[in-house]
Amino acid sequence: MTHATRTIVISGGTDGMGRALALTALRRGDTVVVVGRDERKGQVFLDAAASSGAEGRAFFLGADLSLVSENRRVVRRITEGFPVVDALVLCARHFRSTRLVTAEGLENTFALEYLSRFLLSHGLVPSLRRADAPVVVNVAGPGVPKPEIHWDDPGLGGNYHGVTAQLQAGRANDLLGVAFAGEHASSGIRYVLLNPGGVATSFSGEYDAETAAHVESLKRFGKPVEEGIRPIVARVDDPPAEPLSAFVEDRRITLADHGFDPEPAARLLALTRTLLDGR
Ligand SMILES: NC(=O)c1ccc[n+]([C@@H]2O[C@H](COP(=O)([O-])OP(=O)(O)OC[C@H]3O[C@@H](n4cnc5c(N)ncnc54)[C@H](OP(=O)(O)O)[C@@H]3O)[C@@H](O)[C@H]2O)c1
Repeated sequence: MTHATRTIVISGGTDGMGRALALTALRRGDTVVVVGRDERKGQVFLDAAASSGAEGRAFFLGADLSLVSENRRVVRRITEGFPVVDALVLCARHFRSTRLVTAEGLENTFALEYLSRFLLSHGLVPSLRRADAPVVVNVAGPGVPKPEIHWDDPGLGGNYHGVTAQLQAGRANDLLGVAFAGEHASSGIRYVLLNPGGVATSFSGEYDAETAAHVESLKRFGKPVEEGIRPIVARVDDPPAEPLSAFVEDRRITLADHGFDPEPAARLLALTRTLLDGR
């Protein structure tokens, strides 16, 4: 299948699976917009595109996606620069063993790994709607059991742990998919939650010694990145028919368990709107 006219936006596309997907999509003739915070890595991507003759189809938007204002700027830039977005692939992540509050007063993991995905998904709806088969692939952790959102303290100010923050962001992304698909059911946009399994990537993060040792073993035993992106490429190429679907690697999983309940999804949507109100 050729997709010479597709435009693919990849958040966290400067490393790991996002970068591999970006280079794969360029090789296949797509226009690729990589969003990342590291200008040097962005330039490496642009140089790689230039050396393969794809410079006219490769774009880098530098942005710290842990900031609401930056996500809004990215949405504006993409909306102005690209009339149609065929696929939005959400990959940005950064683990933190210690709690960090952004300059906007939000806990970093919640802001980067959930709020950014909320803002990009909803903000790019008009651009996605213009595509023939629009899809959002939220690369996260569906299929993994997770505790409930800390409704009274989503910023985990009272009891922060890096793994707790990651699991909460994963839960929030499952619920984001449910709420998004409910709100935009008639838009034609398919929302895919995808858990790639263990993949040997950069594991962007700041780790304490114990977690760093665990990450080293994940890097040693994880699948190669090229293998890890295969199910992502498959979903971008051939989105499922339903407004919402979830996969662990290539295996489709049920949405019938409590991880995808509409009530907490609606509750998180309301909480998110409150958090974003006035920012
Ligand atoms: N790898 C796995 O085993 C695995 C398993 C399950 C799920 N996943 C999910 O798959 C997705 C991709 O993971 P990965 O392992 O490929 O990621 P990765 O190698 O850690 O790369 C993460 C990307 O996000 C970028 N990023 C970090 N902080 C950012 C910020 N504030 N603003 C903008 N960009 C930022 C990183 O840029 P820098 O290089 O500048 O930090 C990098 O490009 C993630 O959502 C992850 O949770 C991965």
